[in-house]
Amino acid sequence: MSMRLRSTTLLGGAVLATAACWDNPSSPSELGFAEVQGVLQADCAACHSSLGAHLNLLNTFQTTMDSAALVTSGFIDPADPYRSLLIRKARAVIPHGGGAIGSFDSKDEWRVAEWIRRQPNRFAYRLNAGRIAASQAPAIDGDPGDPVWATAGPITVPINGGWADATEVTMRAAHDGVYVYFVLQWVDDEVSERRQPWIKQLDGSWATAAAKPRPHDGYTWGANWTAEGSDYMYEDKVAVMWNTYGASTVAGFDNGGCAVTCHDPAMNNRPGKSYFYSDENRAAKKYTNAPSEIADIWHWKMVRMNQHFKLDDQWVGHWEPYTGDPHNGGRGSDAGTGGYAANPATNGSPTYRHPSSLTAPPFFILESEKQLVTAAELAALPVGTMLPNMVTSGPTGARADVDARGQHDGSKWTLEIRRKLATGDPKDVQFDDLAREYVFGVAVFDNAQIEHSYSSTPLKLVFQR
Ligand code: HEC
Repeated sequence: MSMRLRSTTLLGGAVLATAACWDNPSSPSELGFAEVQGVLQADCAACHSSLGAHLNLLNTFQTTMDSAALVTSGFIDPADPYRSLLIRKARAVIPHGGGAIGSFDSKDEWRVAEWIRRQPNRFAYRLNAGRIAASQAPAIDGDPGDPVWATAGPITVPINGGWADATEVTMRAAHDGVYVYFVLQWVDDEVSERRQPWIKQLDGSWATAAAKPRPHDGYTWGANWTAEGSDYMYEDKVAVMWNTYGASTVAGFDNGGCAVTCHDPAMNNRPGKSYFYSDENRAAKKYTNAPSEIADIWHWKMVRMNQHFKLDDQWVGHWEPYTGDPHNGGRGSDAGTGGYAANPATNGSPTYRHPSSLTAPPFFILESEKQLVTAAELAALPVGTMLPNMVTSGPTGARADVDARGQHDGSKWTLEIRRKLATGDPKDVQFDDLAREYVFGVAVFDNAQIEHSYSSTPLKLVFQR
């Protein structure tokens, strides 16, 4: 993982213009910042100073941030100051790990809001899906060169809090009355594809690798870990989470975004990121707050699904700790099959091989092409050799409702997505009322199983009719 650059590394090129005046102390946008910083210091430093690291909170918002850092953080929304995370978290009008901050009174709120109002507007949170003819539909191939993307206005949204190199995602959307199309782009300096492979050990035996070194119970995942080191063996992923509306609507999602599904027992079940592998009932988990509530999740899994031009159509529903399946919490998969499974062990060694390449990469074997690996082939391989641990055939049924294909160009990922506006699946968001604003969030998993960077401000999809 490279440095977290808060620069104008822009994929879509939309949001460039405002950089120059940030650090000019005589600019009006600077006036009053000392006062704002004083408020934040007094009200928030208990959990958001660098001391937070000692409290194992590792929060992304830091009271030491200067105004330029706050402008690029996405915690402020100059177009609508009272919708800023900085204010909504402090007031707990959306879920906040720290709850409602009593000392952050209406005068503090007003001061902070008036400062925010004068800042350059770095981001936009409303994505417009323009109407196109079916003949203009983009190919879902991970190549953003389709003419439609040249004219679709992009938005760039901030993401924070996880392991991703990227601090922002650029998105475009379009629809043709039958399908909705998206292209997402985000910076990543390398493709992560070593998903828990089989590795030959020093003594000649074989073992599958863990996704990451096992974290201590109660530890919180931080934003600045080197997740692309040799001990981290996972895959790049992306997730988009949607409110579903109708009978399954998730209360609070339209205001609070994905955070309403984020529960950490260490934070009184408010949002947080605590690990607890010895008892997953005590780890931070995703679930909705009422039995009727369902959020739709589009989960792109590079090693398990990209070769099939699909993402995994999943969902988040209600769960309570100490019931059901504590590992998955509220996460479930749509009807059908995932079309992936581990390369099983035979006498402790991998069973299958890729037809043309004995060793990884590739880190998956197509189900239709798998061949038995022989003991002689395994014996001849040097210590440290990797074999794929994933056998794939692509998802089926409702789980296969979303087409997707990602491509990495050496510095960034491009992911194209297509889904029918309406699928009829009660676990899916139905884009059947094009007058509605559909609220969603996006998360980037950079070689991360769960430690995703995420958009905290709710995003909205609007359709051109
Ligand atoms: C008692 C501890 C505590 C206090 C005090 C606190 N927070 Fe937080 N805050 C948290 C925790 C834990 C999170 C992470 C979970 C979440 O997103 O809600 C968080 C998250 C945030 C976030 C989202 C970005 C991030 O760092 O994850 C913002 C913005 C934020 N707080 C603003 C504030 C502001 C503004 C204040 C003071 C007015 C404040 N907080 C006071 C605990 C606290």
